[in-house]
Amino acid sequence: MPYARITGTGSYLPEKVLTNKDMETMVDTTDQWIRERTGIAQRHVAAEGQTAVDLAEQASWRAIEAAGIAPEEIDLIVFATSTPDKIFPSSACILQARLGANGCPAFDIQAVCSGFVYALATAEKFVSTGASKKVLVVGSEVFSRIVDWEDRGTCVLFGDGAGAVILEASEETGILSSHIHADGRYEDLLHVPCGISSNYEQVKAGKAFIEMKGNEVFKMAVNTLGRIVDETLAASGMHKSDVDWLVPHQANLRIISAAARKLNMSMDQVVVTVDKHGNTSAASIPLALDVAVRDGRIKKNEVVLLEAFGGGFTWGSVLLRY
Ligand code: ACO
Repeated sequence: MPYARITGTGSYLPEKVLTNKDMETMVDTTDQWIRERTGIAQRHVAAEGQTAVDLAEQASWRAIEAAGIAPEEIDLIVFATSTPDKIFPSSACILQARLGANGCPAFDIQAVCSGFVYALATAEKFVSTGASKKVLVVGSEVFSRIVDWEDRGTCVLFGDGAGAVILEASEETGILSSHIHADGRYEDLLHVPCGISSNYEQVKAGKAFIEMKGNEVFKMAVNTLGRIVDETLAASGMHKSDVDWLVPHQANLRIISAAARKLNMSMDQVVVTVDKHGNTSAASIPLALDVAVRDGRIKKNEVVLLEAFGGGFTWGSVLLRY
């Protein structure tokens, strides 16, 4: 059976930056509160009309270039997003046409902040069974469109962006183990409480906004991410000391630090982008991965743990040799 190995990464952030000082002029908050509670200093926000596929396209071209492949070679596109361009077709199909990778299967995955881990775990199954050889896996979000800019409890947390990887069939080890989970009983703790087939009036009124019981989500996230570490290491036969890098979902620096403590890792081994990007949901892990690959921190053959927790609740991890 072939291994599934990441051969290229790419990311893209919209130009416009909103600092915490900017947020102070919009809602009753302070730079100090945001930094102390979340670790966030700024976030990027898409321009009017700029969509999740627009961001994904830029990130994808960069990943394609880094992998040194032609877009026509891509034989599967998996696109993680909760902020798709259209109700249908999928964002994966819209992206496919932009890239000229026509004919291969293309579909979206919706697992909110765990979306990229879900997408990568799914893509790995296609590669390891021999169904696909070169997969484009993307996470892209424009959460600024579903944030209530008058709700200080949520609007300071999120940002827009995209990240992508090329996952190829390889003789060399790549993904060592992947685990995805969900527990739908916690739907109401973190959701946008409307959609096409329910509370559609709210969508039409332009009030399709994130609602989150932050404190309860926080506790669940810390406990669950602790369990993920044990599950991943047990399945791969690895030890905590074998992991070179933690690339976690970037929701909150305090959640990230708790996960690092669980792994006995120093924060020097943790890729942190939440300070500059905020929480970009399904885009946060591939964005952070790309940053650390391009600045030379993550090197070939190093062991990297990706882990995420998000709405659903959903959670999961991917352990890989880069
Ligand atoms: N500025 C100033 N004060 C604020 C702000 C703000 N931006 N937001 C909330 N407050 C106030 C609250 O009103 C509250 O005031 P009160 O005590 O007078 O009632 C006080 O600060 C404390 O609020 P908490 O919600 O208890 O603060 P907490 O320390 O829990 O931090 C936070 C909030 C940052 C949201 C945290 O709970 C968190 O990060 N939760 C997890 C988020 C997460 O991981 N989500 C999952 C992924 S996201 C996804 O899947 C889409």
